[in-house]
Amino acid sequence: MRRFEGLSKLSGAERYVDDHPADDVWWGMTVRSPAPRGRIRRITFGDGVDWSSIVVVDHRDIPGPNEVRFIELDQPVLAADEVRHVHEPVLLLAHPSREVARRAAAVVTVEIDEAEPALEYRDHPRPEQIQHGPDNVLASVRIDKGDVESALASAAHVIEGVYETGAQEHVYLETNGMEAWLDGDVLTVHGSMQCPYYVLNALVHALDRDSSSVRVIQTPTGGGFGGKEDFPSILALHAALLALASERRVRMIYDRGEDMVATTKRHPARVRHRTGVDDAGRLVAQDIDVLMDGGAYVTLSPVVLSRGIIHAAGPYSCEHVRVVGRTMLTNAVPYGAFRGFGAPQTQFACERHMDVIARRLGMDPVALRRVNLIRNGQATCTGQTIDDGVDREDVLDTALGQSRYEQKRRAHATFNASSRWLRRGIGLATFYHGAGFTGSGEVTLKSVQRVVGLPDGRVQVLSANTEIGQGTTTILTQIAAARLGVTEDRVIVAVPDTSRVPNSGPTVASRTAMVVGRLVERACDDLRRCVGADGTADGSEVAAAIREWYRAHPGETPVGEAVYEPPPGVQWDEVNYRGDAYGAFAWATYVAEVEVDLRTYTARVIDFTAVQEIGTVLNETLARGQVAGGVVQAIGWALTEECIFERGAMVNGQLTNYAIPTSDDVPPIRVAFLEHPYEHGAQGAKGIGELSMDGPAPAIANAIADAIAVAPNVIPVTPERLMELVNRGAA
Ligand code: MOS
Repeated sequence: MRRFEGLSKLSGAERYVDDHPADDVWWGMTVRSPAPRGRIRRITFGDGVDWSSIVVVDHRDIPGPNEVRFIELDQPVLAADEVRHVHEPVLLLAHPSREVARRAAAVVTVEIDEAEPALEYRDHPRPEQIQHGPDNVLASVRIDKGDVESALASAAHVIEGVYETGAQEHVYLETNGMEAWLDGDVLTVHGSMQCPYYVLNALVHALDRDSSSVRVIQTPTGGGFGGKEDFPSILALHAALLALASERRVRMIYDRGEDMVATTKRHPARVRHRTGVDDAGRLVAQDIDVLMDGGAYVTLSPVVLSRGIIHAAGPYSCEHVRVVGRTMLTNAVPYGAFRGFGAPQTQFACERHMDVIARRLGMDPVALRRVNLIRNGQATCTGQTIDDGVDREDVLDTALGQSRYEQKRRAHATFNASSRWLRRGIGLATFYHGAGFTGSGEVTLKSVQRVVGLPDGRVQVLSANTEIGQGTTTILTQIAAARLGVTEDRVIVAVPDTSRVPNSGPTVASRTAMVVGRLVERACDDLRRCVGADGTADGSEVAAAIREWYRAHPGETPVGEAVYEPPPGVQWDEVNYRGDAYGAFAWATYVAEVEVDLRTYTARVIDFTAVQEIGTVLNETLARGQVAGGVVQAIGWALTEECIFERGAMVNGQLTNYAIPTSDDVPPIRVAFLEHPYEHGAQGAKGIGELSMDGPAPAIANAIADAIAVAPNVIPVTPERLMELVNRGAA
């Protein structure tokens, strides 16, 4: 099936939130804290603006508790007295003219009595920097398997390493935008988002309304990558507060600069490894310490950390594993969800460390991975037995074959000996990604999915899961059509509108195709039962049965419904982090080929191979797009995308100096899939959305290490960092 909304996006016909008519719209703007930490002393409204024409809202105008509802309730909707980060929202204002509103926001001065901020997550906080518990630790989790200390004590080799990854901005094409208005008694909000029910719950909580008087609708959304998982709740609250105060329709659209400096990013992380290996390279003990920067509020940090530590030991078999994870409060803009959700950070460390181990043992990096890759019947670090029938060595070998790994190594040796300034290298990463919420998360979510019959015999899919550029609408259409035996033009996916669709859970965690798709299948089966077109009825018989059902039940609608049920036998111990962390893992080996220019210290990726086993491929074009997109996003994270902070504020919040990859930076990307259907995913599908973010950065860093014999253990490997590594090596 062709991508459902592809043509409207390609032609510009798609209407994003800021493309809606704006005749009677007021424009909302945000006034923010200039300081990373302190108390608000005074707010001054400047000259040159007719303040009587402007609606202003502060924390006193919030009808309910001044709390953004995420995991904890620590983050205020608007700062009341204290501020904890630069750009923290303090005041909102609205005016019918976008320009006047912008000017007005610019002449408001917020004065802060500053306190000592905590700006460095790697340093132990000084007493005057403590703002959360005894030590600023926002979240901590650990995994214990076997006896790490005695295994390390008796290991033939113990190899240590420290690895760091930086913050990353999502740079979705469409910036955050939201519009709110009162429709009778119903507060209605529409805008750019991944998770309508997260937004609904946040509005219900802080505005003290019941859920029947709040309605949230997703507008076509230009990319999310996690950046529209948690943040839109805040912007929706702001637009709603202005709409309630002004009794107008209020639109808030961040420009690129505001979006880059004031919204969430990927958590920076430092990961330490201490690994015991035997003479054959077998892992006998992995001792891993994960430290993340959480920023000023908890947001989703506990679950980002959780996914991070579960993936930290890699797709390997090891009897003795300890992973200790902590997320620190700092006075930075809160970090949030970003594609991969902690796993790219910890797998960068693990896969870079595997190459460090191989070099120390004088072993081939491929051979080291081959002896340690998890075999069917063996268990992960949480004790989850992997018995999915996937041949992980086959994934590795396919990647080696497609990338012509061995031939390239020989060719590089010749090339490097003859080139004065250029050095080529090749590197790989073997990795995995668990799909769906971690642990018992899907059970807690209890997602509900519906499929209804329409009077003309077509069907409508009612889902809260959103199209954010990854293909949800196309995939859900395909799945429903196949299950009912009808053609794809007989299936309509409803607009995610909380007044119409059930809560099928958030569009996150690589869960939509696998988990929600499976719910769509079961809801289709339920619809068949409802209209009496069980089992063998083909598509035209299903359509006829639906039409017949309408004649027999005037005024009613035939509804098929499914509620999430965990696959049988899945066990998770949330306290001890033991058991089945995910229903299924996707497995991958990525190979990067780089060329380093020793005049400019620039590393370029010149060829890339991405081989993965993701269960059934539902739509090959979309799946390849997901992989290629993740690879490019990770090339940026690995090489060029560096957030530069001063006193907790990003100072390079423009696309002129925050360098994302352009087409010129994108190498040929060979994408291949191995398919081993997962029986509890739609048509056998597993998750795919985040996987491709995990592997490229370590593969690229390993390729740089191969090219010029340095150890790029901190990303992004900018020219500045590379120059320092080369000079240090030369010295
Ligand atoms: Mo996500 S990073 O699970 O939207």
